Amino acid sequence: MQQYVVANWKMYLDHNGVQELTQGMVKRVMDSPKPLPKLVLCPSHPYLMPVYEHIKGSHISMGAQNCHPEKYGPHTGEVSVAQVKDVNAEYVLVGHSEHRNEHAEQTSEHLNFKAKVVIEHGLIPILCIGETAEERASGKAKAKIAQQVADEIPKSVHPGQIMVAYEPIWCIGSDRTPSKAEIEDMHETISQELKAQVPNGNLIPVLYGGSVHAKNAKAILECKGVHGVLVGRQAVKLEELWKILNCKDE
Ligand code: PGA
Repeated sequence: MQQYVVANWKMYLDHNGVQELTQGMVKRVMDSPKPLPKLVLCPSHPYLMPVYEHIKGSHISMGAQNCHPEKYGPHTGEVSVAQVKDVNAEYVLVGHSEHRNEHAEQTSEHLNFKAKVVIEHGLIPILCIGETAEERASGKAKAKIAQQVADEIPKSVHPGQIMVAYEPIWCIGSDRTPSKAEIEDMHETISQELKAQVPNGNLIPVLYGGSVHAKNAKAILECKGVHGVLVGRQAVKLEELWKILNCKDE
């Protein structure tokens, strides 16, 4: 299966930073003599257009960090999937834990609907799921992510229309990552649940996210059931992101 490196730039960069990083990555990816994982850049909404201007014609794709599920209408301050599609985004992060945390309306029902609307527009939702430290400590981690998959993956979806990112909340923005055994165990649970929900659900790519950096990316990408990484802080540094993209060679 194709491997992915998704760069979630969160609210970190200004216009100059976005431009430098994007231009740097485009040059390196275009000059690379060997095939690389699929790189998806997810800038803040104001930078979708300038990022696209740099990546068009390259093998790099672009995603939005969120969108509103309504197609059109009086939603001040919101951005619709039609709008992010209009500026050539191909992916949308759906249900990132930081966004769930700051927006109470991001319930499983809402996220299921959002993912469905994203798919209807021909874009690929990257559904982010994961457990808190408390849920893990009390033995509820697997039940939590299985429930998220069951409730948030739209019915009648086909593999190829959606991706999942397993992002343990206790690892995001920290220095902690789960062990190889823990990652494989959680990815196995997700894979079982996807198979139960979706015909050929085992073909849906499942990424790992949470404190990925150049030194642990290779080991994470070698975990069974991991088809890519979703990278936050380390994805805003050109050298780090490039090393993560090339980590297989190390
Ligand atoms: P991090 O963020 O790499 O900074 O931990 C990952 C994410 O939130 O997607």
